[in-house]
Amino acid sequence: MSCDKIEIEMQSVKNDLFLRALKGEALERTPLWLMRQAGRYLPEYLEVRREAGSFMNLCRTPELATAVTLQPIDRFSFDAAIIFSDILTVPDAMGLGLSFVEGEGPVFERPIRSAEDIQHLQQADVDRDLRYVVDAIRLTKQELAGRVPLIGFCGSPFTLACYMVEGRGSKTFHKTKALLYESPKLFHQLLEKITLSLIDYLNAQIEAGADALQIFDTWGGMLSDNTFRECSLQYTEKIVASLKANSRGESVPVIGFTKDAPLKWYDYYTKIGVQAVGIDWRHDIADVIAQTKSCAIQGNLDPMILFGSEEAIDSAVKDIITKVGIAPHIFNLGHGIHKDVAPERVAFLVEAVRRHSLVVRQA
Ligand code: CP3
Repeated sequence: MSCDKIEIEMQSVKNDLFLRALKGEALERTPLWLMRQAGRYLPEYLEVRREAGSFMNLCRTPELATAVTLQPIDRFSFDAAIIFSDILTVPDAMGLGLSFVEGEGPVFERPIRSAEDIQHLQQADVDRDLRYVVDAIRLTKQELAGRVPLIGFCGSPFTLACYMVEGRGSKTFHKTKALLYESPKLFHQLLEKITLSLIDYLNAQIEAGADALQIFDTWGGMLSDNTFRECSLQYTEKIVASLKANSRGESVPVIGFTKDAPLKWYDYYTKIGVQAVGIDWRHDIADVIAQTKSCAIQGNLDPMILFGSEEAIDSAVKDIITKVGIAPHIFNLGHGIHKDVAPERVAFLVEAVRRHSLVVRQA
């Protein structure tokens, strides 16, 4: 066993509110983290990003990825850290050639365009091509020294397939839908290959010390009910069922997040073995709680409220926390934080979540 592993095993997490919420415990205060909490709204991130030269260099340099992972923890005392990386590192490791074009977002050099592309698609060699993420997780665990838990993550097979077929972001993902409805067998072969890569990838993250995992299904919400179950949920379920225990022999909790999911889908999620569901801001959280009794819930403040006044933030936070009551809940935004949000507004949000949740939970 390597020294790293021994160190990780000996560290217990000091602030374990987030992990206890994932176990469904009723807590004295609501834990809080934000999707995309490390990023361009923080001046200290922009400084490291400049130093790195490009977003991918930042992701590929474990010391820098660790530094930016810790920045929001140091500044806001969030209750969990999330490893700084991107969901698209996996298709990159499968041979598609990822770059981020300024002002355009992600672009793949070799998108999936034919049956041959799918047949020749390689499985990600995690040890070789995603080692930088695994190393960043090990280093971040060391630097955190048990302060808060560390979340690992991946994109859902369906969401990754969208970018891989399109070659870039899209409003409609019509090339993806064309493949799905013209050649469903091929599309499922693609989903299957992505799934196998993601299983290896998440298991490597667990081995490196990730305390929990989130699966981001950003685009599943555009599917019909049947297609969501066949093309997204089914593969997420397979991933969850294939995860290994951590070095203490415990299973690692998983948060499933589909943006734009109708209420009914949360019920599906409770049946595939995840410990929590992430919900976006469009739902009334009270409705989701009624639907997902056997799961913890994560969410669901409208990210745009952070452009509003302190009064608006305070009242939206109070509304969510009051509706949740003592149900197991992890406070988060309904989607990633916007790059133009003022850090002072985030500091106010953190304080409001602490204040309201202490009142409600200790009543
Ligand atoms: O939450 C965190 O702090 C961890 C880091 C993280 C990033 N991306 C960093 C990032 C996570 C969890 C992601 C996930 C991700 N990436 C998703 C799923 C979540 C979601 O937002 O729906 C998706 C769809 C992507 C793909 C992606 N990455 C896009 C479309 C873009 C460009 C758009 C944008 O916001 O610029 C990225 C780039 C990216 N990933 C940035 C960050 C901080 C900005 C790049 C930069 O600093 O230049």
